[in-house]
Amino acid sequence: MKSDFYTYDDNPIFHLAIPVDNIVNAREFYISVLGCDVGRESSKWVDLNFFGHQLVIHLVNDRLRGESEFNEVDGHKVPASHFGIILSWDNFSSLETHLLSNNIKFTLEPYLRFEGQPGEQRTMFIKDPSDNHIEFKSFRNIDMVFATDLNKKIVEN
Ligand SMILES: [Fe+2]
Repeated sequence: MKSDFYTYDDNPIFHLAIPVDNIVNAREFYISVLGCDVGRESSKWVDLNFFGHQLVIHLVNDRLRGESEFNEVDGHKVPASHFGIILSWDNFSSLETHLLSNNIKFTLEPYLRFEGQPGEQRTMFIKDPSDNHIEFKSFRNIDMVFATDLNKKIVEN
């Protein structure tokens, strides 16, 4: 359902704030590994341009421990707490190459999920120095991002 404050065509920018236990290490990770630009910042928080969306890292003493919980998705253990971005197929491959060449450790290695189904997608997980899990994915068919029947096999017309 859409309303006058909820449209796709104005490309709303997602905002997310996450806890980190070392602001210097986290800031460096998002800049050097993921190429984020820095916006406003203080000693306790930093605004980051995360693929055009606003991600804020907030310094805390004890970070949340949701990252220790995993659920199974398509036969793989996926951290229940994570965030990320959906990229084009080509940009996913470019980022995959970039992460591999920089020896970034994957929580979940790049793989093809829901293969042969309408929701077929590539996905990979890394985590920042404060153990916030980050997922990158790319859909074979971008129109399937919000599809509801992912188990239905593709039928050729
Ligand atoms: Fe996810």
